[in-house]
Amino acid sequence: MTKDEILYYLKTHHEVDMYGIFELADRVRKRYCGDGVHLRGIIEFSNCCVRNCLYCGLRRGNGRARRYRMTVDEVYQVAECAVDAGVKTIVLQSGEDPYYSVSELCRMVERVKELDVAVTLSLGEKSYRDYRSLKEAGADRYLLKFETSDKRLYALLKPDSSYVNRFRCLEYLSELGYQVGSGNMVGLPNQSSESIADDILLFGMLELDMVGIGPFIPHPDTPLGGFNGGSSGLTVKVIALTRILTRNAHIPATTALATVDPEGRRKALCCGANVVMPNVTPFSYAADYEIYPDKLTEDTIDGAKKLVSSVGRYVAKGYGHSLKMGGNVNIPTH
Ligand code: 5AD
Ligand code: SF4
Repeated sequence: MTKDEILYYLKTHHEVDMYGIFELADRVRKRYCGDGVHLRGIIEFSNCCVRNCLYCGLRRGNGRARRYRMTVDEVYQVAECAVDAGVKTIVLQSGEDPYYSVSELCRMVERVKELDVAVTLSLGEKSYRDYRSLKEAGADRYLLKFETSDKRLYALLKPDSSYVNRFRCLEYLSELGYQVGSGNMVGLPNQSSESIADDILLFGMLELDMVGIGPFIPHPDTPLGGFNGGSSGLTVKVIALTRILTRNAHIPATTALATVDPEGRRKALCCGANVVMPNVTPFSYAADYEIYPDKLTEDTIDGAKKLVSSVGRYVAKGYGHSLKMGGNVNIPTH
């Protein structure tokens, strides 16, 4: 697909065109990923963050956030319950929180790996050495969204971060043998259709194993609280176009999409997505992990399973590793 074609589809409101790309995305998903949907249990183990991204409720400047940190033992217990309920991947996510030393994080990874699961980390930017230690501790995958490919917008939204370093980190991660995920937000203030088209092209160029796409949702306790958020319709289009372009990347039906549209995840699963990431953080903490407002807290593994069967698909059995490595081996056999 050329940039002009992507742009055309991003902008069109013609039902026939939209139906066409949604149907094509669903066919590409079926052919390259199969009908199995992977469940990844997310544990948000700390909502403390040293950064000050303008869009995010966890930003250090938000004095109204109630902060928490989970211990390694707590994380282990929560992971154990999630594994009992049937997930084969645990995602350990936090703000950029230097309170946890790398050796403690390694201990966390090692403990969770005892449960015979894949471990995905989502801890933000770290040094090559730290990424290496965490890989050696057993981490399989790493998520680091570039959020927007638009350098100017990036600098505005992430005033204390460097665009160049973000991409350097993504390079480190693939060099170290992680399965790498990135992603963006859709509907950011001053985000043009051109820049969304560039995001989609970049997903393809980076040959990502995973791509997370969610709408921007304004949080009232941030500087962007007064802006409009991204729509479900545009986000689903971005998911469909990303599926068509990347073919076999793992693409989640995100929680953010479910937050702006009760049917959002179902729509995503029918337009290219093949992953659901239920939040398994204990309720008492999850309520405070408020990246954006009204985030689903009732986001259970059972709910995810029902969602999967409601679209005529099934929960995949394996770890759900990258499909980039051994070809597209995930064609269902039942
Ligand atoms: N709206 C939607 N997504 C957000 N994120 C952070 N803040 C928001 C928001 N206001 C997402 C970003 C980030 C992840 C931690 O959450 O994509 O990578
Ligand atoms: Fe911190 Fe990530 Fe939120 Fe930025 S987006 S403030 S780095 S948690």
